[in-house]
Amino acid sequence: MAAALASQAEQSAPAKELGFSYRQGVNWSKYIAFRPQYPVSFFERIYSHHSKRNEKPWSVAHDVGAGAGIVSSTLAASFDKVIVSDPNDGYVTLARKLLVEEASLPESKFVFLQEPAENSSVASGTVDLVTACECIHWTAVDAAVREFGRELRAGGTLAVTYYTRPLIEAGERAQVAWKGILNAVAERARGGVYENVYPLINTAFDHLGFPKEEWEDVTRVYINADGNTDGFVVDSRLGESKVKEWEEQIWISHDEDWCNLHGIEWFKAYMATWVPLIPESEIQGLWDEMELELGGNPVKTRTPIVMIFATKKA
Ligand SMILES: C[S@@+](CC[C@H](N)C(=O)[O-])C[C@H]1O[C@@H](n2cnc3c(N)ncnc32)[C@H](O)[C@@H]1O
Repeated sequence: MAAALASQAEQSAPAKELGFSYRQGVNWSKYIAFRPQYPVSFFERIYSHHSKRNEKPWSVAHDVGAGAGIVSSTLAASFDKVIVSDPNDGYVTLARKLLVEEASLPESKFVFLQEPAENSSVASGTVDLVTACECIHWTAVDAAVREFGRELRAGGTLAVTYYTRPLIEAGERAQVAWKGILNAVAERARGGVYENVYPLINTAFDHLGFPKEEWEDVTRVYINADGNTDGFVVDSRLGESKVKEWEEQIWISHDEDWCNLHGIEWFKAYMATWVPLIPESEIQGLWDEMELELGGNPVKTRTPIVMIFATKKA
């Protein structure tokens, strides 16, 4: 059902260029099936930061860049109201179908808005929690962070998260092939919006800054990261670090919630969720090399993820 609804929305989406658009190859059916699922601990970490400073924090959440509404669906269990926003044509329609029609969550829980992070119609000082998951790198980040600050009430929480591609526990030749596949995608991701994306994702968002006048309690949690952001690097486009000395950095070298076992077919399907999409046939040699090296066995994957929390100052 989810797949049918997703492909229906894909076909009816008008062409309009934004980051992570249908035109760049987005396929929500594959995304839902093959991207890592957000574990319970992901939400616990967000709620733990949020609860520290808020007595009645569970009124309104705004899930920005919500896509198919994956994060929104869990937020709905904890918040009275969830604003689900995304600027790409067809995405909030899809989110509404999946959340309300398929998952049978009450429509009254949600407000669906087709709009970008940088310019929202949400009233100032009305939101308790803003989540920007796997999305802020597609925005004009300074404007987006400013807009999140405007929407949040004093003491409200911003949670910005990003998981990158998994690291694999495999022999050197498989590692080389896997790196080659990722490099091929990065090579195609040149110009336009991608020049903003890569300096952010390669640095685990260290290139994302939070002005001290507006934010406090900025905490950057790096998971499956061994004391540095090397595991996030995909190519050489590194933005300079905007991490300030007053921010807290927490390193968690191993979190089984972001580890898995996967075979070659999963890797192919997973890479079809990245944009720009590179058809399997165009990098067949690399896939063949990886398949040969894996020898039909699944490999352990370990996905680095960064979760950044910030509290809106009074
Ligand atoms: C990889 S998806 C993430 C979807 C969802 N948040 C999740 O975690 O599964 C990235 C989303 O960012 C959205 N996006 C692109 N440009 C944006 C912008 N300027 N403001 C807000 N979202 C944007 C895309 O439409 C897409 O839905």
